[in-house]
Amino acid sequence: MVGTAADFAPFEFIDENGNYAGFDIELMNAIAEKIGYEVKWENADFAGLVASLQTGKYDAVISGMTITASRQEEVDFSKPYFRSDQAVVVQASNTTILSREDLADKKIGVQLGTTGELLARELVSDKGNVYAYDSPDQAFLDLNTGRLDAVVNDLPVSGYFLVRNQNLPLKIAFTIETEEYYGIAIKKGNTELAEKINNALVELKQEGKYAEIYQKWFETEPPADIP
Ligand code: ARG
Repeated sequence: MVGTAADFAPFEFIDENGNYAGFDIELMNAIAEKIGYEVKWENADFAGLVASLQTGKYDAVISGMTITASRQEEVDFSKPYFRSDQAVVVQASNTTILSREDLADKKIGVQLGTTGELLARELVSDKGNVYAYDSPDQAFLDLNTGRLDAVVNDLPVSGYFLVRNQNLPLKIAFTIETEEYYGIAIKKGNTELAEKINNALVELKQEGKYAEIYQKWFETEPPADIP
């Protein structure tokens, strides 16, 4: 069973037919096919995924999850399969939030348990001004109604959200180049599965399948050094 937080289009979401869809979903299904497994998906809040992997509920987690040193103490990761940064989203009419310094005294929304949350905590002078939501969409909606001044969230997801929700007057104020790499998380010590996943990633890249999936969801070529 593979865990994911399907609130993160275009990486993982539930499409209009109720099916799991997105870049991560297609990538993981392709990996599993190579290994000879069929993926059983489970949707859960992002903040709980690592714990469910540790308890053995999941065999793997793919969820736009950044490989970080602190997570590496709890789980193992595949080689990186995507490079990402953070974006600061504000109301379209906002003219005052232009750089990191402008966020010091602002109310910032984030998704609970994410690298965006950690970054937001560094940006504010009072940690009480960071509001953590179960999903990024909930934060965007509160930004829209003015309960928040900004949302810090992964750039490709925020960009995709804005394009799909043009009725919401929101925009990206600026990006923060965090240079994060997403990896597939595996239970600590399960080197056998980690190796199978890494080998499958290499093959998918060689065959052009990785580039095909990337192109479909991001409408551009993948960077040469990934995965
Ligand atoms: N990349 C960020 C992190 O690892 C956010 C991931 C959120 N993923 C999700 N499916 N909601 O913390």
